[in-house]
Amino acid sequence: LNTVPEAVEAIRAGEIVIVVDAEDRENEGDYICAAEKATPQAINFMLSGRGQLCVSILPDVAKKLELSPVVAQNDAPLKTAFMTPIDIRTAKTGITAGERAETIRALASSDCKVDDFVRPGHVYPLLAKQGGVLRRAGHTEAAMDLARMAGLAPVAALCEILDDSGDRATREGLFAIAKKHNLKIISIEQLIAHRRVSEKLI
Ligand code: 5RP
Ligand code: CA
Ligand code: ZN
Ligand code: ZN
Repeated sequence: LNTVPEAVEAIRAGEIVIVVDAEDRENEGDYICAAEKATPQAINFMLSGRGQLCVSILPDVAKKLELSPVVAQNDAPLKTAFMTPIDIRTAKTGITAGERAETIRALASSDCKVDDFVRPGHVYPLLAKQGGVLRRAGHTEAAMDLARMAGLAPVAALCEILDDSGDRATREGLFAIAKKHNLKIISIEQLIAHRRVSEKLI
């Protein structure tokens, strides 16, 4: 695994990072990049993970853009907080890597407004807890925390990584992908530990 500062630096530089959660949680690796840095190329690469491309946002953004939970009662085992899927208004179909990148970058812009988007769309916002991984040890919060720690808007794209057979990529598989594409790879446990120390919470 890489260090948290290495991952934060990569996120700041617009790179994609792999983040794994606890083996007794989803035991999953997601591609993550800062929403501000979501280029069509970056999103196209993340889609090669073949998971569900989502974008982590904080409650203030959800409120401003009038995004609400997709269901009234969240029964998902880990309560992953899917919100109204949206597209940037200028999108033709909303599904291309370029158009999804545009939607994601718009979500990171401080002056975005309700009318900039159409609903339903193809990009799923996920509602992150304000306290990040210290409140919830999920990829939603890890993605947002990494963007925030990089000094960027606290909005970040994420997509799970499947292997060639369509299964969840294993740890070994994820290390191989990181090596092949020269990506940093960290765990949410590392992120939690790093924040506790650097914010003097222990
Ligand atoms: C969205 C998901 C992913 O697992 C994503 O990683 C966000 O979920 P969580 O915050 O629970 O890890 O289901 O496609
Ligand atoms: Ca999940
Ligand atoms: Zn996850
Ligand atoms: Zn998942």
